[in-house]
This record gives sequence, structure tokens and C-alpha cells, in this order.
Amino acid sequence: MRTPFVAANWKMHKTVDEAVDYARSFLPLVDAVSDVDIVLAPSFLALPALATATGSSRIGVAAQNVSAEPQGAFTGEVSLGMLRASGITHVIIGHSERRQLYGETDAGVNAKTRATIEAGLSPIVCVGETLEERESDRTFDVLDRQVGEGLSALTPEQVAALVVAYEPVWAIGTGRVATPDQADAVHRHIRQQLASQFGEASAAACRIIYGGSVKPGNAAELMALADVDGALVGGAGLEPTSFAEIVAASRPVRRYNQKIMLSIVLTALYVVVCLLLVAVVLMQQGKGGDIAAAFGGSGSQTAFGARAGATVLTRATTVMGVLFMVGAMTLAIMGQRGTGSILSGVDGPGFQQAEPATLPVDSAPTEADEAEAAAPTDAPVEAPAATPAEPQ
Ligand code: PGA
Repeated sequence: MRTPFVAANWKMHKTVDEAVDYARSFLPLVDAVSDVDIVLAPSFLALPALATATGSSRIGVAAQNVSAEPQGAFTGEVSLGMLRASGITHVIIGHSERRQLYGETDAGVNAKTRATIEAGLSPIVCVGETLEERESDRTFDVLDRQVGEGLSALTPEQVAALVVAYEPVWAIGTGRVATPDQADAVHRHIRQQLASQFGEASAAACRIIYGGSVKPGNAAELMALADVDGALVGGAGLEPTSFAEIVAASRPVRRYNQKIMLSIVLTALYVVVCLLLVAVVLMQQGKGGDIAAAFGGSGSQTAFGARAGATVLTRATTVMGVLFMVGAMTLAIMGQRGTGSILSGVDGPGFQQAEPATLPVDSAPTEADEAEAAAPTDAPVEAPAATPAEPQ
């Protein structure tokens, strides 16, 4: 089973101090989550501080971009060696904003992906179609090209360890989210494309995550899809609590169900033990014994009128007493509330998200959505053309 992978892409938000404050609030919220890979992607400037703040936790730290070149005269670029020396674990590659605003190409994505893997870091490779491409029925063609060229020359083993993020461009920062049907169809298509390019085993192991207006309110529904293995979150990843809720919604449901079944079975066994304990005590009382005797006294030795029967009854009572105590302690430990609790899956954030089907248009975009929606307008109009292609 693929471990869910959930990343927060902070884009051009948060100072170094804000990033560290976020980590302080966020870490305790996901402290007990060991079944989801969690990654935070701040700006370059905040990477080392965030790597230090997340310390020995399971949380990875990702750069939002990287140069494919090892070093040299590449003004404004950051190398993989620099990232690795700062404890960075992942790199987001080919985000649609980099493709659209900074002219990144599939060939560039491929060079960066291969360089990242060779440097021992983990790439998160983004693909996705624009609204115009979707409306002209070219979604699968675009994705086939992005996956085909972006991952070209990777080995099946490298693809098996890869994270591919499907982010429909029209859903990023807009409040519009792909419907489960749309996401399901595309994720399945990408997996088939990976299977034909790298083999079934690699395709089955590769994690394909969804990005584009993922929120606490729609995450569970998307994560429940068989081929959706997590989320790349923008706006909702800026708040520790909302991102923690998305992480909770991404936890493996099947594992929760197993834990819930276990707790039901144990509770049922405990009830049986309680009833048997009451029965054996009453049996002794009914024969003139007393409860204290059942735990070692001599007053009930005549239960059933025979010494042998009394011994069996006494032993049964003792066993039931011990089982009663062990059962009570076990259920008390399991009943603890909190992220790591066995019952957190029943009423934790993940299960509170079971809402009706997501509407295509989110009527209340967050501040972050609005900021992102404004970003392309803020950028100089000639930026894409004027920006020289990054060294590939
Ligand atoms: P969003 O951004 O969640 O704000 O839509 C997603 C992304 O760009 O990765």
C-alpha cells in the first residue's frame, strides 16, 4: 500500500520567523501521525531555519524549485548541493506557476528531476492542464506529454519512488477543485501512462497526489479515491490547523477501519468478561460464600457443596478479576483522544470531512487564494518572454 504524501507549498508567503512559528504550532498537531509523509515547502530563504525547526520529526522540507546545474555562473539560482547541505529533503519541480510565469519546459523539468534524484533528494514533479486545454479536450494529450518528457530516461526504480502531483491549472488558487470524477479519471490515466512507460510495478508504487484548491472540507473525498495518494496544498497549507486537518483526512482509511473493528471486538470481549465475573461472584454468594472469599478467603470453599467445585470457582473468579482489570486498562489507553488515538479516526478531523460532493466552484476563496489569483496580474506582463530560460 502506498503511504499517503501531503505537502504544503507556501509559494511566496511567510518570512523566516513566520515559517519557524508555523513549525512550532504544526508539529504538535501531527506529532502522532506516522502513516502519512508530510512535507513543507517554504521560500528558499526559510529553508534552513525550517529544516532546523522540524528537526528530528518525520516532516520533510522541500524547495519550490532548483537548478539542474551543480554550480557556476547562474545568477539567482540555487543548487542541489546547497539544498542538501541545509538538510532539505524534497524539491517541487515544474509547478504550473513556474511553467507559466518563468517559461519552464518539459525538458527542463526532466533535467531537474534527474539531477534531484542523482543528488539523493526526492522530486515532486508537477503536471496539469490549463482550462483552455481541458475545454478543448486535450487534457490527456497534455499530461501524456508532460509525464512522457518530464520523466524521460528515469529508471523504473526511480519512478517507483517518485511523487507526481497532478494539478489542474484551472484549480490552483481559484477555489475551483476538480470533482472526484475528474480527479479519478486523470489519476488513473497518469498511472496507466506510467505503467506503459515504466512497467506495472513502478506505476503501482509511484505516488500520484492531487493539487488545486484542496481544503479541509474537500480533502477526505479526494483522498478516498483509489489512485489519489495525497495532496499538494497551497492556500490551505498556510495555516497549521487547516493543513493538519488535511493531513488527518489523508490517513489510510483502511487502517482506521481495522482499528475501529479491533476496538469493537475488545469492547465486546470486555463486556463478556464483566458478565462472567458478576456470574461467578453471584454463584458464590448464592451458596453462602462472600466476595472476599472469592479472592482468597475461606468462606466460599463450600460453593457447589464440594471443595473441588469451590476451587474451580475461586480460580475462575480470580481469572475473571484479572481479565477485568487488564481489559479496563486496555480500553482506557485505547480511548485516549488525540491525533494518535485509536479512536481519532472515528471522530477526528479526517472523519468530520465526510461532506456531500464538492461543488466545482468554491464560493468563498481564502485570502491566500485571492493573493494567488492576483499574483499573475502583479507580475510584469513581459516576464515570461523576457525571462531567459533557466539553465537546464
Ligand atoms: P492551492 O495551490 O491549493 O492554493 O490551489 C495548490 C498549488 O499550487 O500547489
